[in-house]
Amino acid sequence: MAHYKMPILEEKGFVVLDSYGDLVDPREWQSLEYVDWKSSGDTRFAPLASAYGDIECNGFWHFDPPKPDKDGVWIESQTEKSPTLTWRAQEPGANIGRCRIIELQPNSYADALYNSHLDDNNRLNPDGEGWIIRCFMQLTHNPNSYMILREDINDPTTETRIALPAGAQLVVDSERMWHSVWHQGPEPRYCLITSYESGPELEKWVAENGPHTDVSSPALDSDFAVEMEREAHARRDARTAFYGYDPTTVMSEA
Ligand SMILES: [Fe+2]
Repeated sequence: MAHYKMPILEEKGFVVLDSYGDLVDPREWQSLEYVDWKSSGDTRFAPLASAYGDIECNGFWHFDPPKPDKDGVWIESQTEKSPTLTWRAQEPGANIGRCRIIELQPNSYADALYNSHLDDNNRLNPDGEGWIIRCFMQLTHNPNSYMILREDINDPTTETRIALPAGAQLVVDSERMWHSVWHQGPEPRYCLITSYESGPELEKWVAENGPHTDVSSPALDSDFAVEMEREAHARRDARTAFYGYDPTTVMSEA
């Protein structure tokens, strides 16, 4: 028996939702406790829910007892500072695993391609239960920054670039889609990232929030794109040579 996957993600591996219309007070993410956690780029994370309620970002399978990326435990010292973000994460009503705010420092398009990875979302997730996916809720207003999604990291024609103004929301099968963010700064970017279990609750919430996949990626200068692609792959190849394998083929825990 396979995992249950939402049909709406089948075609493209992601779906963009209508923008969240209300402003969120920046103090909700600025006042949180962050931990250094290397993800795709220069990052820190502020967990709202973790495996057992501590302020840390490890995959849930590292604990005793280990568990899949579900049944996250809310961290009261964090959620009391971020009631709107907590409410937004909980609104879909689906089972939540990891839930945290990412802080990403400015980077380049080549950095984003270098850092692109697949998430490890479904380790220990029992067959027959819902496939774990991620929801990204953009907090800071970064209309010139982009979520870079690729079906195949080595094929730029499979790329979709999704602009990230405040309120942008997207649901991504991030174990299928290579992903990273090209953040043009100058200030850090903040985004709420939540692991959800696919199922009727999440599908209902997605359906109620204007799901669409007809995203027209902003154009890139072709010479720039070629140069960035070349740089990113040279760096990826060097990393592979250093480790003796490509670490991004081992799905990221972040
Ligand atoms: Fe990721």
